[in-house]
Amino acid sequence: MCGIVAYVGPKDAAPILLEGLARLEYRGYDSAGVVVSNRGLKVRKVKGRVADLAKAVPARFKGGLGIGHTRWATHGVPSDVNAHPHLSADQRVAVVHNGIVENATELRAKLEADGVVFASDTDTEVLAHLVARTVEDTASLEEAVRKALKSVVGTYGIAVLDAERPGEIVVARNGSPIVIGIGEKEMFAASDVAALVRYTRQVVHLEDGELAVLRADGFHTFASGGLETAKEPLTVDVEAGHYDTGGYEHYLLKEISEQPETVARTLSGRLDERFHIAHLGGLNMDARETRSFRRVKIIGCGSAYYSGQIGAQLIEELARIPADAEPASEFRYRNPVVDPDTLYVAISQSGETYDTLAAVQELKRKGGRVIGIVNAVGSAIAREVDGGIYLHAGPEVSVASTKAFTSTAIAFALLALHFGRVHDLSPAEGRRIVDGLAKLPAQIEEILEQGPAIAELSRKYAVHPSMMFVGRVRGYPVAREGAQKLKEISYIHAEAYPASELKHGPLALIGPELPTVAIVPDDELLDKNLTTLGEIRARGGRVLMIGHREPGAKLADDVIVVPRNEIELDPILLTIPLQLLAYHAAVALERDVDKPRNLAKSVTVE
Ligand code: F6R
Repeated sequence: MCGIVAYVGPKDAAPILLEGLARLEYRGYDSAGVVVSNRGLKVRKVKGRVADLAKAVPARFKGGLGIGHTRWATHGVPSDVNAHPHLSADQRVAVVHNGIVENATELRAKLEADGVVFASDTDTEVLAHLVARTVEDTASLEEAVRKALKSVVGTYGIAVLDAERPGEIVVARNGSPIVIGIGEKEMFAASDVAALVRYTRQVVHLEDGELAVLRADGFHTFASGGLETAKEPLTVDVEAGHYDTGGYEHYLLKEISEQPETVARTLSGRLDERFHIAHLGGLNMDARETRSFRRVKIIGCGSAYYSGQIGAQLIEELARIPADAEPASEFRYRNPVVDPDTLYVAISQSGETYDTLAAVQELKRKGGRVIGIVNAVGSAIAREVDGGIYLHAGPEVSVASTKAFTSTAIAFALLALHFGRVHDLSPAEGRRIVDGLAKLPAQIEEILEQGPAIAELSRKYAVHPSMMFVGRVRGYPVAREGAQKLKEISYIHAEAYPASELKHGPLALIGPELPTVAIVPDDELLDKNLTTLGEIRARGGRVLMIGHREPGAKLADDVIVVPRNEIELDPILLTIPLQLLAYHAAVALERDVDKPRNLAKSVTVE
């Protein structure tokens, strides 16, 4: 979502802030701004991209202390005035903010009644005025920020400057991530390590309710009551190069192409070819506890939820434990029954999705046992859960999730194998899955080699304003993910249905104008799926089939053939052509592939 960067040290802050903001731009991007402190505050903010802001920042913008922001509008339209930083009326205090101040209207009315004149329509501006009210009479900026935050209801990750205290920055977190970067006689803070890794790998994550004071020579963290907290720095295993396009035209293509390696990394050290089991030490769960669960409930948002549907299928098939997936955003609002015999699995690439985090917190409050399948190491969800599986897929920059999706499905296959082998899955069956998983990286490579042919098909189908995606049982979450990828990056309308449901309604839509992408693996449902293709073709519908064989020209206009694996693992491979299909359709339609309109990479607000 929005991005925050802060710097205090001997160098000029502005270039560091601009570089950091460019790295964060994938999170939110309708306006951007920076402020540096040097005998007063110097501010530049613009509607547009970080590159537009860089052009607006003059060379004389000197000062070794500053904060910056990229914005994804929630309160107030994208505009120069609504861009952050927001300043107090006397230009003394500057604030950048991620999150939502829920009682902003009420706070604003009170401040206005006291004569404060607002410059913007944002909720953030109230924070600047609230801090400014107390900053004069408090011993420290930290205390002024703490006092101001007492009257705030909502979520925030903030960085605050006071022109009268030019050596320090205060950051605070409640529901929106803040990570501190520790440098050599310089300190950084950001909403995402992406902005820091060029300068340091030593980081500290703030917990909700915590606040920190950064000075060039170090930092101090405090709990909301004011007591100092002790924090152990963490070394992040991410390089600055992970945030480059690496010679690819788009991050998305880079991330799709990386999947043979990212899948191998997710599997690395976890497959036991002797006992045909999975090693998942991060679950923090002994064999007795593993055997004790009677159900598995999976929660996540968007593509993470669809990968959870693949996961539920894998767990039911391999471990024979009832499992289902639900959007975390729905789960948290319906007062779910939390059952001690259920294992809850939260999925998140970013580890910061607010709806998923809130669902995990609700589960924990009610005594639920929650594990996480998370990509971002040290993220909020990773810290909140009782154990889990890290994906090790590396940073995912493009807004649309690809490599994290496949790695999540792999993590579920490992989890299903792990549970299966302490229940009824035989060693021979375990071996079948272990061998199948080990084959996946090379098979993904084979699919990627079909890139040019898939690009050709994308151009052919991208002329249609709408597309239908169908799949049955294992193929249905694949169809949902295919439709999701296509709509979010190409803006082609796409709907996904279970193939079995077509005749209960959506068949009415089928005709020459609405092509269907059909997921047709060679499993026990092949004949039923082929019958569905016949029904579509009989209504003049065009069919692009993704499967393991050519069904003949009568049933499909076009076919993408993928290598076979074990039927339980086939959904992972069937997803790859759909990623390429969406990518090339978006390129053909000249869309902003990595930064699709209205979307942000991690949704840290409700
Ligand atoms: C779609 C996409 C989103 C995310 C969702 C959850 O391509 O990227 O649907 O999957 O917002 O994000 P995480 O996994 O970070 O919790």
